[in-house]
Amino acid sequence: MPARLEIEGGVPLRGTVKVSAAKNATLPAMAAALLTAAPVTLGNAPDLADVRTMTRLLETLGGTVSRRPGGLSVQVAGVTSDLAPYELVSTMRASVLVLGPLVARHGTARVALPGGCAIGPRPIDQHLKGLGKLGAEIAIENGYVIARASRLKAARITTDLVTVTGTENLMMAAVLAEGTTVIENAAREPEVVDLATLLTAMGARIQGAGTARIEIEGVAELRGAVHRVVPDRVEAGTLIVAAAITRGDVTVTDLVPDHISSVLAKLDEIGVVLETGPTWVRARGPERLRPADVTTSPFPGFPTDMQAQVMTLLGLADGQSRVTETIFENRFMHVAELARMGARIETDGAIAVIRGVPCYQGAPVMASDLRASAALVLAGLAAHGTTIVSRVYHLDRGYERLEAKLGGLGARIERRA
Ligand code: EPZ
Repeated sequence: MPARLEIEGGVPLRGTVKVSAAKNATLPAMAAALLTAAPVTLGNAPDLADVRTMTRLLETLGGTVSRRPGGLSVQVAGVTSDLAPYELVSTMRASVLVLGPLVARHGTARVALPGGCAIGPRPIDQHLKGLGKLGAEIAIENGYVIARASRLKAARITTDLVTVTGTENLMMAAVLAEGTTVIENAAREPEVVDLATLLTAMGARIQGAGTARIEIEGVAELRGAVHRVVPDRVEAGTLIVAAAITRGDVTVTDLVPDHISSVLAKLDEIGVVLETGPTWVRARGPERLRPADVTTSPFPGFPTDMQAQVMTLLGLADGQSRVTETIFENRFMHVAELARMGARIETDGAIAVIRGVPCYQGAPVMASDLRASAALVLAGLAAHGTTIVSRVYHLDRGYERLEAKLGGLGARIERRA
């Protein structure tokens, strides 16, 4: 896929656009297929770079993944390798999601440590501590986690911090453990709930998903299932901001408004005109945007994955805003690029102070991570002139056909080699 997007800014987006299924629910759901020899079908799995990476990873472990119209099926009839190699894990941190199910199904796992990424070191110590409590022997050798357990045993686990994939890994390990496991301080994200829904359809016994206390009663084995993945709340939020920042009028459909209530509340405060239905949100961009302060926090707080997008919007507001990023150490990579388009943003550690400007100027900019690249596309849609966003392979990891969706709303956006 060519790696640049060329955007002619200044066009108010109008029309209706459908949200795809969530990347961050599809990836754990694919890993869950390791827990059974039967097929797991995800009827609406999105076609994303990260989904293709997880496909390759499951195939190296002995799985077969078949794409079908709109979705995919994963079947791991037998685990033929327990190795998640560095060259795959280093491109996608979510590869670590095979660790829990591999140990639970196969008894051993060798998973490369994910290492850092653009937004911070992102260790997996909570994943390993929890697996240890479940009876796995954990060693770190030559940059790999080596985990082994003849049979995992239930435990009471309290994670030191809220971790989304940590909660998901431990839930997938516990479903086949002997006895009843309790995870305290669990992540409450909708993607965690969606994974619990799939695991339950596979025969797992899980209570409390979506709360900070999840109880899992281990079973002897799991069956296959057919599952529809929850809509992508981050894509939904991104498309709503696109409407707002271009002073457009867009109805975003096939989403769960409750999954982005913190985002909708903040956009309302900023002055975006919102109407919410059971599975849709209509967003109209106001003439003037009001400044606001944003602090990211675990669900149901304001999601870190929407921080770069809302900062881009606040960059055009009438006044000064503050954005505090509490989840990741280095998630302001978009600031320097936005500044090249005329934004006035000062960062100091976890805090960014944004002084609104009347408009952005189109410019050549470079994406650094998935959500930063979305923010640069949003800035380009609003800017006067032409913006070229390079390294959009970051964008392709988590947004399905974004330029087609935006083009369908009137945006002048083309992919260029
Ligand atoms: C998930 O990442 C998402 N990815 C991220 O989305 C999202 O930003 C993040 O949750 C927070 O909501 C997937 O679900 C595939 P964490 P995850 O474990 O699970 C620290 C996107 O753009 N931590 O909740 O990796 C960690 O360093 C991506 O779609 C530990 O210290 O995030 C971070 O600072 C980006 N030790 C914080 O906790 C651990 O063992 C939250 O991390 C685990 C995490």
